Amino acid sequence: MSICDQIFAGKSPPILKVKELIRQVANSDLNIIICGESGVGKELVAQALHLSSNRKEKPFVKVNCAAIPSELLESELFGYERGAFTGADRSKMGKFELAHTGTIFLDEIGDMPISLQAKMLQVLQDFQFSRLGAKNDVRVNCWVLAATNQDLERCVKEGRFREDLYYRLNIIRIFIPPLRERQDDINLLIDHFGNQFAEKIKRPLFEFTDGAREFFREYSWPGNVRELKNTVERLMILGDWRTVKSELLARETRQFNGHELTTQVPPPVLEQQEVAPEPKKKFPTLKEVKKKAVQEAEGKLISVVLKETDWNRKRAAKLLEISYKALLYKIKDLGLRRDE
Ligand SMILES: Nc1ncnc2c1ncn2[C@@H]1O[C@H](COP(=O)(O)OP(=O)(O)OP(=O)(O)O)[C@@H](O)[C@H]1O
Ligand SMILES: [Mg+2]
Repeated sequence: MSICDQIFAGKSPPILKVKELIRQVANSDLNIIICGESGVGKELVAQALHLSSNRKEKPFVKVNCAAIPSELLESELFGYERGAFTGADRSKMGKFELAHTGTIFLDEIGDMPISLQAKMLQVLQDFQFSRLGAKNDVRVNCWVLAATNQDLERCVKEGRFREDLYYRLNIIRIFIPPLRERQDDINLLIDHFGNQFAEKIKRPLFEFTDGAREFFREYSWPGNVRELKNTVERLMILGDWRTVKSELLARETRQFNGHELTTQVPPPVLEQQEVAPEPKKKFPTLKEVKKKAVQEAEGKLISVVLKETDWNRKRAAKLLEISYKALLYKIKDLGLRRDE
């Protein structure tokens, strides 16, 4: 079993593709950007890349560009010499130097201040830079991996991210889809985290009933794999499926009613959006009228059924003969609320 298969659980087609890509690029030294919503496993993919490469015995250095105040990020990345600024009473190596011969993982790259992006671009070009306050350059050899849950193309369009840096980083892009789009992985992940945690806390596995597994499959997992992992661990500690299930349902309701901020990557900006809007037409098209009428009719029926089932969306979906997930999306799309 490859190291990638050992640490990165999943056999759904998109995950198999991710793993194949990891194998292909592991020794390429090409810059890689890993994208996906929060909690999908971006950091884990970065680790899998490093461990699958011939740099695996060398350092893997992570820098979270969002967690470090922007005025400190430069010195954190590139280091400084004694006296470079007030308080610099001794020199310090930056993360790039620490990652020499290994891998540097620039997490949340979308949050890198624009003022620092020019220097970063320079470094990605020749891997040469000077510590703050230094006269001489240092040269490093490291593999650059970056991750973001933001839509970098949009950041570029909005002027928050340099286009040249975007192209420099975007040589290979690994996209990890949200968990709700790879339900086939859910059972496997339940067992993966269950076994891992049972081993850690020396407790027997929590018995997942078929009903619980089915619920896990249909739940929308706004927090992705991280949420699933936490849920499995909570269940193993509490052993109380009913409480955990109602917590999940409450969270999902908040999410779909828009009370909770999502960290979803917005849909990619399509080329078509660039095109100037068409002049206002005198009449809507038949297609538009049909769509609106269908939406209205659907909205009415779904509201009635939800009321009838006291917002039990599982039952409502059964009555409507659509999947639970499809119903959740329709509720969101139509802006239906429980209190209406
Ligand atoms: N396919 C997987 N197999 C095993 N564990 C996974 C998998 N995907 C994610 N995890 C676990 O889920 C948790 C979240 O993953 P990770 O931190 O890599 O997500 P992320 O995309 O970097 O999230 P964020 O954007 O919030 O930083 C971690 O504990 C990670 O080990
Ligand atoms: Mg992360």
